[in-house]
Amino acid sequence: MNDLYNNDCLTALSQMRKKGMKVQFTVTSPPYYNARDYSSWTTYDDYLSFLTDVFSLVYDVTEDGRMCCVNVSCVIEPRKSRSKESVRYPIPFDLVRIMCGIGWKFIDDIIWEKPEGAVPNRNGCFSRHRKPIAYKPNSVTEYIIVFQKPTKGLIDSIIRHMPDEIVEKSLVKDGYERTNIWRINPETKSHHPAPFPLELPSKLITYYSFVGDTVLDPFMGSGTTCIAAKRLDRHYVGIEVNEEFFSFAKERING
Ligand SMILES: C[S@@+](CC[C@H](N)C(=O)[O-])C[C@H]1O[C@@H](n2cnc3c(N)ncnc32)[C@H](O)[C@@H]1O
Repeated sequence: MNDLYNNDCLTALSQMRKKGMKVQFTVTSPPYYNARDYSSWTTYDDYLSFLTDVFSLVYDVTEDGRMCCVNVSCVIEPRKSRSKESVRYPIPFDLVRIMCGIGWKFIDDIIWEKPEGAVPNRNGCFSRHRKPIAYKPNSVTEYIIVFQKPTKGLIDSIIRHMPDEIVEKSLVKDGYERTNIWRINPETKSHHPAPFPLELPSKLITYYSFVGDTVLDPFMGSGTTCIAAKRLDRHYVGIEVNEEFFSFAKERING
């Protein structure tokens, strides 16, 4: 099953649930609160309740025992005037609380580390005055948080129930990431403002799904997750609300 929806993911996921559709793995990067033009919530709490609704639906359409990887990072809202301070929102930490409240089990935190030159410089002023308390490090990391939909048996029993041939075809090759710090350059050549580098969903799909599984991305953007899934002999379901990004993704996936 390969499906692409140009729709709000709340609507598309509700439709999938109604039809009884199931996916075996999700890898996604939700909008980072109001960090980009395409997102606008009145308050941070509104944003968190949107994430609660989305990942509750993702939970419902996920097969028992299977995984969901969410890429998020803390987000800075720049100060609105000289008399105000900037605000840094702890999205990854709030997300873990939300996901566990839905019923997802927290499994792992993977750190995506980018080169310092690829991120905005936050310590320009500090580097000149060096006064304590005003210190702000350049933020070169994002999180990939790994969750599992609980099931009665252990992960071993899910693997035991898979056909041997599928397990054999899906084995992870040498050179896999051995620690939870993954150094990957961000994607810089894209029409999308915040695309995954192809390496990121490719690794996650390889480590957390089997050949023939269906991989979901409810915030598909430029379609990188679906491209990775297709190349790795998985099926895909991609959802994107923005028409322009959707057309771009569709062209890339089918191209
Ligand atoms: C961080 S980007 C994802 C980028 C993607 N990982 C890629 O490789 O291009 C988040 C995407 O979610 C989309 N989006 C925001 N709200 C949405 C909603 N309610 N339903 C579906 N997509 C939404 C945005 O238009 C944006 O393209």
